[in-house]
Amino acid sequence: MRFLVNGKTHEVEVAPGEILLWVLRDKIGLTGTKFGCGEGQCGACTVLLSGRPVRSCQVPAAGAAGQPVTTIEGLARDGRLHPVQAAFLRQEAFQCGYCTSGMILSAAALLQRKPDPDEREIRAALNGHICRCGVYGRIVKAVRSAARARRAGTVK
Ligand code: FES
Ligand code: FES
Repeated sequence: MRFLVNGKTHEVEVAPGEILLWVLRDKIGLTGTKFGCGEGQCGACTVLLSGRPVRSCQVPAAGAAGQPVTTIEGLARDGRLHPVQAAFLRQEAFQCGYCTSGMILSAAALLQRKPDPDEREIRAALNGHICRCGVYGRIVKAVRSAARARRAGTVK
């Protein structure tokens, strides 16, 4: 099957019932997408499918074939971090980093549809992403900081 990931096409053999997460990690080699619960409950495996956040542990690979997929490796542009990535670094919005790629992708999708979210909207967008290290406060700060930076035009 043909997968369009981060703007590149990959021809991959897919086993019956195989999920998108394993295609991305094991067959395409993009290990920034993490395996957590495997049950759609933690958000660690989140990627963007046609621009919308999905839990890749719950998406049949066959259903994602041919649709644009963005993983954490595909967010930076021309060697510059995405504003949400840069803000996570500024605010130190991680500890172990296991939840980080999923959090960043959901936050990036939020800012794409809503450039000026309030705290309630940020928390709602990240609802269901579990951070075992408990740095939720810094994560919310980082998303607000990214939104301000985008609006100020300091980053695109
Ligand atoms: S690994 Fe997919 S939601 Fe937890
Ligand atoms: S930074 Fe460790 S799980 Fe979130």
